[in-house]
Amino acid sequence: MPFDRYNREINYLRISLTDHCNLRCVYCMPLNGLKFLPVQDLLTPSEIAAIARSAVSVGFRKFRLTGGEPTLRPELLEIVRQLGAIEGVGELAMTTNGILLSELARPLARAGLRRVNIHLDTLHPERLSQIMRWGRQEQIWRGIEAAEEAGLLPIKLNAVIARDYNDGDVAALAALTIEQDWHVRFIEMMPFGIGECATIARENFISNEEIRARIEKEFGALSPFPGHPSDEAQNYQLPGARGVVGFISPVSEPYCGYCNRMRLTADGKLHLCLLNDAEMDIKKQLREKGTEAVQAILLKAVQLKPMGHRLQEGIFTQNRRMFQIGG
Ligand code: 5AD
Ligand code: SF4
Repeated sequence: MPFDRYNREINYLRISLTDHCNLRCVYCMPLNGLKFLPVQDLLTPSEIAAIARSAVSVGFRKFRLTGGEPTLRPELLEIVRQLGAIEGVGELAMTTNGILLSELARPLARAGLRRVNIHLDTLHPERLSQIMRWGRQEQIWRGIEAAEEAGLLPIKLNAVIARDYNDGDVAALAALTIEQDWHVRFIEMMPFGIGECATIARENFISNEEIRARIEKEFGALSPFPGHPSDEAQNYQLPGARGVVGFISPVSEPYCGYCNRMRLTADGKLHLCLLNDAEMDIKKQLREKGTEAVQAILLKAVQLKPMGHRLQEGIFTQNRRMFQIGG
């Protein structure tokens, strides 16, 4: 089992498949000046599978595909099939903006994907196009329905809340859990790099404490919903609700002490902590030395994983943006 220096069991690998995205959420991707990875720098499907096999052999159990937007990776189904066939892969999930799920949910489920988290910041079509910019509400909604029909359950929706954009919509999002057996999770905005997105993350930040107060004002007191400590969300239920409301509060209440994850970027770097620049080049080890070197570098990365982030001191990831790490 891979335990780090702080006795955290690191058994969850998030695999970014691409840095491209078909949306331009205001806190994540600027409209201009983006540079993307050249295709030849990406890990191939069989390299991703080789790394996942090594990860399983050193004790990783849980895998999640991320981006950018993972559904834009042309070889997505092949990657899911290869990962799904690895014995010891306990959980195989994906984080997506849902835009392409209406077509892909069923084939993905057939290929071996178990669950999806779908990014949806508001139910209000106009405000959605202000915050998720190229996103269309009906398109994402069709994706959510397709995921549910394909059995990618439980449906978890992730909403990033920005003051003056979608903070007025938190009650409507939470209300989805009354009728639906879904998880609706509110994520605090984190700053990455420089420029307009980092500025929005700072200036339009709203804490989950405030979001929770607004929800409770509308629906009454939330009751705790028990979960696993390494679940990044604090989970609750609205009175009489079927689903779950979760709060992911990396900024106001860091959960670094329970972190169980490692991240693999699309260009084959292990990114040791989301909010820190430290990386190790696993692709180079794989291409030059083969799978034994991959096991060694995975264990070393676990050993070197930093304890916590330093957002409070204004220190955060400079060399990559969220869409280049995968959340
Ligand atoms: N802060 C918090 N969450 C973010 N996401 C993207 N940018 C940010 C940010 N600055 C989330 C999206 C998506 C995932 C890739 O990361 O909601 O679900
Ligand atoms: Fe794309 Fe997700 Fe970033 Fe929005 S938050 S631009 S959907 S990667």
